[in-house]
Amino acid sequence: MKPREIKPGIYWVGAIDWDRRLFDSLIPLPDGTSYNSYLIKGSEKTALIDTVDPAMHDVLIDNLSEIGVKSIDYVVANHAEQDHSGAIPQVLDKYPEAKVVCTPKCKGMLIDLLMVPEEKFITVNDGDTISLGDRTLEFIHAPWVHWPETMLTYLREDKILFPCDFFGSHLATTDLCVSDEGQVYEAAKRYYAEIMMPFRTTIQKNLEKVKGHAIDIIAPSHGPMHDKPEFILKAYHSWAFDEPKNIVVLPYISMHGSTRKMVEYSVGALAQRGVTVKQFDLAATDIGKLAMALVDAATVVIGTPTVLAGPHPNVAYAAILANALRPNLKFISIIGSYSWGGKAVEQLAAMIPNLKVEILEPVLSKGFPKEADFKALDSLATTIAEKHKEYGFA
Ligand code: FEO
Repeated sequence: MKPREIKPGIYWVGAIDWDRRLFDSLIPLPDGTSYNSYLIKGSEKTALIDTVDPAMHDVLIDNLSEIGVKSIDYVVANHAEQDHSGAIPQVLDKYPEAKVVCTPKCKGMLIDLLMVPEEKFITVNDGDTISLGDRTLEFIHAPWVHWPETMLTYLREDKILFPCDFFGSHLATTDLCVSDEGQVYEAAKRYYAEIMMPFRTTIQKNLEKVKGHAIDIIAPSHGPMHDKPEFILKAYHSWAFDEPKNIVVLPYISMHGSTRKMVEYSVGALAQRGVTVKQFDLAATDIGKLAMALVDAATVVIGTPTVLAGPHPNVAYAAILANALRPNLKFISIIGSYSWGGKAVEQLAAMIPNLKVEILEPVLSKGFPKEADFKALDSLATTIAEKHKEYGFA
């Protein structure tokens, strides 16, 4: 992808990764991603905001050459994760006069991760500025979006916020700015769920911090830019601040059909009582979709057979993932079948210490579910519907 001019003297110079399908060897990328890097020319100095994934460093270097960049004064590293910092060594090779500008914590990480020499750094505190001549970079420390060292860079005169991962989306597109809000909402919510949700309370603080700045454009380092910032600010506000909704997420595994029968029955019973249910077969599901569903859910009901005296390993994986994502859940229950006993419930409960939830009475059926089991599932559905009503989850 060639460089694109955003405004006179400000360019997108990143790389589009159309074919990447997995991030962190964990997160599915159904729509690829981009590593956005931005070049800002001031009347006296030039700055590069973030770089790209090391696998695509040549694209960034070619883009800088194409717009005739002869020297770079500052390479701003908003975040030390390698998909943004990984090409810093190549940029410093090509532009040896450049200094890396980052938070003190980020400096240590870049030395550890990329072996950037100590003398290459300028560290900045919250609120510090660097003048490019007729343009000013202001640095806003914003820890835990989603690592401890993160900051945002605000280009004052142009009212452009460069927030790196914050407000980003894994989406490969030729659109410089959001053109399809529905598509970007979905991708940005998936991204929020996967890496921002565990830090919801610090996200809330950072959203408040951003409010103090007049913003015309949000230029994240993944996905398209927001030239109507209200769209993404409103979405983030809702994901980070809203109470859970009247939703049950039901991830499950079934081996011989007994747990599936209980899942199907429960979905119907909950729906009859006015509760929205999102059902995920963990043998096939995209975990990004499961993570997105957890953003809004008040309750999770896990469906698992008992395997080798414990929960099915795929269910254990989903429980550990949910524990790491720390959604704003209020209730959890477990349903499923067993044939000769086991400790599925106790083991699953031990896997979710981060979730501050009330555990509702599990329903375990010995073999294929029978009348008494269906009655217990009806009772669980009634309890969930009543709890949601009592808490005002709509
Ligand atoms: Fe896009 Fe946290 O890196």
